[in-house]
Amino acid sequence: MYSMFLCFLFASFVLSTVDADTPANCSYEDIRGTWIFHVGSLKYDKTVQCTSVGPVKSVVKVNLLFPDVAVDQFGNKGFWTIIYNQGFEVVVHGRKYFAFSKYSGTLKNSTSYCDETMPGTTHDVIGREWGCFIGKKLAPSVEPKRTIIKLDKAFNPDQLYQRNVDFVAKINNVQKSWKAVHYPEYETMTMRDMVRRAGGVKSRVLGKPRVAPSSDNLKKLVAALPKNFDWRNRDGVDFVPKVRNQEACGSCYAFASVEMNEARLRIATNNTVQLTFSPQDVVECSEYSQGCDGGFPYLIGGKYAEDFGLVEESCRPYSSKPGKCVTKQSCARHYSTDYRYVGGYYGACNEESMMLALYKNGPIAVSFEVYNDFIHYKGGIYRHTKFADELNRFNPFDLTNHVVLLVGYGHDPVSGLKYWVVENSWGEGWGEDGFFRIIRGTDECGIESMAVEISPIF
Ligand SMILES: *[C@@H]1O[C@H](CO)[C@@H](O)[C@H](O)[C@H]1NC(C)=O
Ligand SMILES: *[C@@H]1O[C@H](CO)[C@@H](O)[C@H](O)[C@H]1NC(C)=O
Ligand SMILES: *[C@@H]1O[C@H](CO)[C@@H](O)[C@H](O)[C@H]1NC(C)=O
Repeated sequence: MYSMFLCFLFASFVLSTVDADTPANCSYEDIRGTWIFHVGSLKYDKTVQCTSVGPVKSVVKVNLLFPDVAVDQFGNKGFWTIIYNQGFEVVVHGRKYFAFSKYSGTLKNSTSYCDETMPGTTHDVIGREWGCFIGKKLAPSVEPKRTIIKLDKAFNPDQLYQRNVDFVAKINNVQKSWKAVHYPEYETMTMRDMVRRAGGVKSRVLGKPRVAPSSDNLKKLVAALPKNFDWRNRDGVDFVPKVRNQEACGSCYAFASVEMNEARLRIATNNTVQLTFSPQDVVECSEYSQGCDGGFPYLIGGKYAEDFGLVEESCRPYSSKPGKCVTKQSCARHYSTDYRYVGGYYGACNEESMMLALYKNGPIAVSFEVYNDFIHYKGGIYRHTKFADELNRFNPFDLTNHVVLLVGYGHDPVSGLKYWVVENSWGEGWGEDGFFRIIRGTDECGIESMAVEISPIF
């Protein structure tokens, strides 16, 4: 009965690994409105540490309007998006402003102050004149929001994963679209390892955005696309980096982020530049993510790659352990730009815009919720089996969000099911040679709600 255990085991794990730094839970409506940014000195470079703002040197008033338009006090028009439920980014009058929303408390019992930010960073759009700022919302007002996560107390993160033959057999009994197996290597992993592998506790998104409605124009563009498409075989050429293994570190966000950059670089150069970037550098050096506890592709594949650049695997090989940043200054850095949520901003994603972005520009980083049936996937078109929920009301992976690389889409002529083709980072022995297919068009496990893409620089 491991499935019943999972729920009980998870609680103490969360409580013991995560203390005060709980991500906020702020929605689009919480952030939309009029803000004042108190900006400190702009004499820094990208190594600036924004723990406080220092003396305020300038004040920016900005209106964040529907859907993604930012207007400053001089009437300059720019862009804004929330970043998951964690904070937001504004680009206006030649400068970018990025901050996490303010919060206090613990993961289990936290308060979000969505009308204020933690100290954030600002720099001009070409990455100069760095400084710190704090945002305060003028109107409309937002009440502090308490987030309580109820977890069971008896859960042991050090317990080894336990084989459950019945659960696997039942998955295969109740449905035929995908096949479940038991992976013997799981028995050597603790529950803490298993949850990390599924995303890490700091990758969670409470309250996913709804999928955006499609437009006639989008539907017309999609109708002209091929029925089946896969970057592993575009006219006989494979543009997809090989499957890797993140092991027991919540670094999926780093793998999907670097792999998106690698794949798009291959595509942009007609496969003449085939680099492998270093997720370890991200795990150890990025201030935009939380090492082996999780992170987000908008901030890593996107913002980190634009602001700091990615180094090659040979510069900082993967060790699957968090640690101090020791990446050599002499290593070459590779940049990308124009990072964006598919659809334009957070909350604007849907199946059609993902198909177009994938086809036109290359693989995209997608997030989805891992359930305890998914870890047994061996092949076929995955869709979450409802009975698994009935067996386990609490899903230990509930609090994480797994990030993976979307590389194709298709349509199964026998079952009539539409699917996505996705590269996982659980090694080549998992799933369909390291890949999986998941049902398309129904936002299965949230996979159509928050895709991210970038443009490589070469
Ligand atoms: C959450 O924390 C607040 C303030 O620290 C406290 O007043 C409240 O009782 C706590 N709620 C729960 C359910 O623990
Ligand atoms: C987070 O916020 C969203 C929307 O504001 C809400 O639907 C969701 O229930 C919140 N999550 C928790 C755990 O409170
Ligand atoms: C891309 O590379 C292939 C060889 O892999 C070559 O046949 C093709 O002509 C190249 N395309 C362009 C536009 O250079």
